[in-house]
Amino acid sequence: MVDASEMKTGLQGVANADPLLVWRKEFPILEHTTYMISHSLGPMPRKVESAMAEFTQTWATRGIRAWEEGWWEMPVTCGNLIGSIIGAPEGRVVMHQNVSICQSIVTSCFDWNGKRNKLVTDGLNFPSNDYIYHGLKRQGAEIVSVDTPDGMTIPLEKILEAIDEETQLVSISHVAFRSSYLHDLAAVTKRAHEVGAYVLADIYQSAGIVPIDVVKLNVDFATGGSVKWLLGGPGAGYLYVRQDLDAQLEPAMTGWAAHALPFQFANGPMEYAPDIHRFLNGTPNVPAMYSARSGYEIVNKIGVETIREKSKRQTQLLISLAEEAGIKVRSPRDPELRGGAVILDVPNGKETTAEMIRRQILVDFRPGAGVRLAPHFYTSDDEVHHTISELASIVHNTRA
Ligand SMILES: Cc1ncc(COP(=O)(O)O)c(C=O)c1O
Repeated sequence: MVDASEMKTGLQGVANADPLLVWRKEFPILEHTTYMISHSLGPMPRKVESAMAEFTQTWATRGIRAWEEGWWEMPVTCGNLIGSIIGAPEGRVVMHQNVSICQSIVTSCFDWNGKRNKLVTDGLNFPSNDYIYHGLKRQGAEIVSVDTPDGMTIPLEKILEAIDEETQLVSISHVAFRSSYLHDLAAVTKRAHEVGAYVLADIYQSAGIVPIDVVKLNVDFATGGSVKWLLGGPGAGYLYVRQDLDAQLEPAMTGWAAHALPFQFANGPMEYAPDIHRFLNGTPNVPAMYSARSGYEIVNKIGVETIREKSKRQTQLLISLAEEAGIKVRSPRDPELRGGAVILDVPNGKETTAEMIRRQILVDFRPGAGVRLAPHFYTSDDEVHHTISELASIVHNTRA
């Protein structure tokens, strides 16, 4: 039965056409904001408030006992919720503060001083990763960055050509933050493994919006965080490591939580835990994991295949409307080569973005890229139309 108030607002009709819109009520900010920025900071799920209260209550009432009642194992139990989104088996994902730390842990597993000293990376990778790689030059690493010819894509052959017998690690940002370009991870991994190199995929801009199965893809490592499509807030980065690598790898960037017997507090050389715990370091970021879980649960419930289906349709709609309005698109037109964001090249991008935010439409701007916009599963088609119509009105006034 249709409730009278729903009939009044027309929401029932909209929800019938797009069943994912029932999730809107789980995100308080959607009541008054057009939220087109989940590639940057996803909206807070309503349940995070009670999750944070649970954290404070646990601390207040259980005190130090909380460590053995769940807190100590949280980097792995919380990682399991991510695992089911990215196709990782139980116990193969650990939580850290952010991607930069996870990337540093991975690169610290290798000796950069030998003959196999190349790190091949894509020229659209996130700058933080580049900064870490260039730091490895002090240890003898050679950094090969495969350039983008158009600021938007990188031809697969160029990446494959750069990978050779001297390559230790190939780092690919699965979906480029600058253009939303979706790399062919399977092809890169196949080539890297043929020459004995490892693959590190940064899946921050794909997990939760583009289906990914780290086991099927056979990547060695994957890093990501929770701020964006996973709707988990800051401080909850994660690292996936392929199971059979535990026996081979000893990260130099480490700490007592990675020890086989951390509570023996043994000084001296490190004795690594035999399993995923060996990729931990110090005390875990417990409150961030409390805040992050509600978002993962929602994404798990809906399923990334369903989210992707809608995302492809709405990003296509965004692109068509932008083109109709005479706005230049800086993301791939083919939905199979595109992640969940669309980048639009407008004049005075910074000022235009500020005006969009003033109009309660949240988007962001990246120099050298443009205005980035992203619908997610809770976005209505009306909001997509509204976003482009407001953007066009700003752009055309600016041009006038
Ligand atoms: C693809 C990608 N990797 C890494 C980062 C940065 O991650 P962190 O701040 O967790 O180190 C971002 C954006 O913030 C990103 O888009």
